Amino acid sequence: MQQKFTPLFRLWHWLTAFSVLGLAGTVFLRMSFLNKNINAEIIRAKLESFHIALTPDQAVAVAKAIRAPMWEWHYILAIFLGIAIALRIVAMLRGDAQLPLLKVLRSENMMERFKNIIHLLICLTILVIALTGAFYYFHDALGISKESAHWAKELHESLFWPLMVLIALHIGGVIRYELATRECLVSKMIHGE
Ligand code: HEM
Ligand code: HEM
Repeated sequence: MQQKFTPLFRLWHWLTAFSVLGLAGTVFLRMSFLNKNINAEIIRAKLESFHIALTPDQAVAVAKAIRAPMWEWHYILAIFLGIAIALRIVAMLRGDAQLPLLKVLRSENMMERFKNIIHLLICLTILVIALTGAFYYFHDALGISKESAHWAKELHESLFWPLMVLIALHIGGVIRYELATRECLVSKMIHGE
């Protein structure tokens, strides 16, 4: 049986949760309050009321400049996610965590198997998102043109909503288990016992 709530395991779990939720937060801001097209239109219309004319491209450039400091956090949090992935590998090598696929194969009943499949899918999706994000970010350094690296960007973006669904299932499952049993699973994930 895996010793799943060791300090290293908990550090991995919360660093992963913190960085993934933060990364998702930057994406939600990019889609909403800091959306370049919506803000470009607001900037263009407001400046027009002051009799200052901007072309649509100039307005988008201003909106992107406003968004840029927020989006930097996508890359800062990406570093934390990279550290979390490295921690998971160390935890598996030390026996503090299991390979997610092994957990699925060793499940004792249907409910446990379902939970472990969700965990496996979360880990796989995060890994592919991190690898494609890093590949696209470093395409220049790798000597690959933006066009040739485009598939990585597409894959990176298309996994966003599936990951959000998996995380919602995970958190929903944890809350359901917490309410249905008196095991204090979340407390254990915070302080070990
Ligand atoms: C983006 C956010 C999150 C991600 C990516 C995530 C990921 C994971 C993964 C992959 C596991 C399985 C670990 C293993 O056994 O190998 C896990 C377990 C667990 N997570 Fe999360 N988690 C997140 C947020 C949360 C939150 C917010 C809570 C608390 C409400 C939570 C509570 C737990 C608990 C209690 C377990 C142990 C479940 C068990 O083994 O039965 N997680 N998490
Ligand atoms: C769970 C983690 C992550 C999620 C959910 C995520 C999600 C996303 C999404 C949805 C976009 C598209 C944004 C849009 O066009 O509106 C994006 C863009 C991007 N992400 Fe991530 N990402 C994650 C981690 C990473 C990591 C680890 C890196 C590594 C550096 C990274 C690098 C990038 C890059 C380079 C872009 C393209 C930005 C651009 O269009 O200029 N992401 N990400």
